[in-house]
Amino acid sequence: MQNISIKNIVKNSTNLEVDWSDGEKSKFNYMWLRDNCPTAHDKDSRHRMFNILKVSQNINPKKFLVTDDGKLQIEWSEGDHTSLYDPSWLRENCYTLKNKKKFVSPYQKWDNSLEKNLNSIEVDHDEIMDSESGLAKWLEFLHFKGIAIVKNAPVEKESAFPLLKRISHVRETFFKTPFDVINIPKPNNSAYTAHALRNHLDLPYFETPPGYQFLHCLINSATGGNSSAVDGFAVAEYLKKNHPETFKTLTEIPVKFIDNDYTQNTLRHFHSTPITLTKDKDYNDIRFSVATMDVLDCHPDDMEKVYKAHHVLGNLLHDDRFQIQFRLGPGDIFSFNNRRVLHGRTEFDPNSGHRHLQGYYMDRDEIIGRLAYLKKSN
Ligand code: OGA
Ligand code: ZN
Repeated sequence: MQNISIKNIVKNSTNLEVDWSDGEKSKFNYMWLRDNCPTAHDKDSRHRMFNILKVSQNINPKKFLVTDDGKLQIEWSEGDHTSLYDPSWLRENCYTLKNKKKFVSPYQKWDNSLEKNLNSIEVDHDEIMDSESGLAKWLEFLHFKGIAIVKNAPVEKESAFPLLKRISHVRETFFKTPFDVINIPKPNNSAYTAHALRNHLDLPYFETPPGYQFLHCLINSATGGNSSAVDGFAVAEYLKKNHPETFKTLTEIPVKFIDNDYTQNTLRHFHSTPITLTKDKDYNDIRFSVATMDVLDCHPDDMEKVYKAHHVLGNLLHDDRFQIQFRLGPGDIFSFNNRRVLHGRTEFDPNSGHRHLQGYYMDRDEIIGRLAYLKKSN
């Protein structure tokens, strides 16, 4: 990037067209250029002080040239202002070239073969506490694979807080933080029983369910209670390739989720398609929870295909080709993208021993933002 320089500039009606020394071409819109003048931002707050609303939509370069040291200089038609742009900044932020590139998903999808290779997603508790490289390793597993198992954590109650603070603050919910996954009398959630839990995401009835979940195993001496996980993005990819009509239904027709927890003075409903996509048509989230799907209210012409699609998706999310099973031991923290990796457990016998997990949530923004920061400062 350092050696690339501006070779030629042509003024069009709405943009400057730049020819670069390596043969590439970029267009830079006038309002975009004025808005991104290097003097636009306050040094401390890093917020934009310049206000684009104070210039007209017809703003354009009265004069422009490349300075002796290779910068693009523009004298604007309005506001008595001259801007000076570093060519490497222009190149790095060039939206012409960015939009030419084919989108590549950051997600490394996985299937059942991960079960034999679980140490590939393990990271040691103290390594995360003591080093930025350990923290980055954990965050990379979480972001790219959507799953990680922290090993050798302490087993005292609430002892995952210092580890999670290495990333950021937690996401509070009415379950409190941490929430105790333990069987209790008169449970307000099927997780607080000894029953099996089918693969699900937590809190699908929120507009934005927590991006990540951390299940910290304090004790697991009961018979049963093995964990399961499945990469919902891998299943979505399979559906897109092999069952395009089902995929279309799952991305276009919303289903409904409900929370009517008897301990809360609240009633929550939320409609979402089971699969949502990002602006790049990559997978965004997978909402599947048999336990909290509400009475569906789809259009009568759609109900049959919605139920069939739900059935196909649900079966694949429990299919041995995709699902992994493993057993958490004391000091393990099963960490995963709650809106990608669906999780469950087998039933356990509460009379045979003890089982106690403590759960924490965090927003996806915290994981992505912290990882981006660590990568940038390296
Ligand atoms: C939960 C949950 C899994 C387990 O609490 O949401 O899914 O292993 N628990 O108990
Ligand atoms: Zn759960």
